[in-house]
Amino acid sequence: MVRTADGVYAYRNSCPHTGAPMEWETDRFLDYSGALIQCGLHGAQFRIEDDYCFAGPCAGRYLRKVPIAIRDGMIIALEEITRRYD
Ligand code: FES
Repeated sequence: MVRTADGVYAYRNSCPHTGAPMEWETDRFLDYSGALIQCGLHGAQFRIEDDYCFAGPCAGRYLRKVPIAIRDGMIIALEEITRRYD
């Protein structure tokens, strides 16, 4: 899940390149600029707003969105999120 000035975005933690988890360290998914999602395994880079991969081994592919809702100030995932490779 990523919060920006434009909104909140949620994606499955699964890189379209191999299906591996994407974090560099626990709960760290963004590049050093904080403006891109970057896979920790081979460095694929994704735009936060639309999950499009524009650089790296899975260029042209997308992350899998997780639908969310904001209710009473809380962000709620509308489908189950697990730490499995899915
Ligand atoms: S597993 Fe993400 S770029 Fe290879």
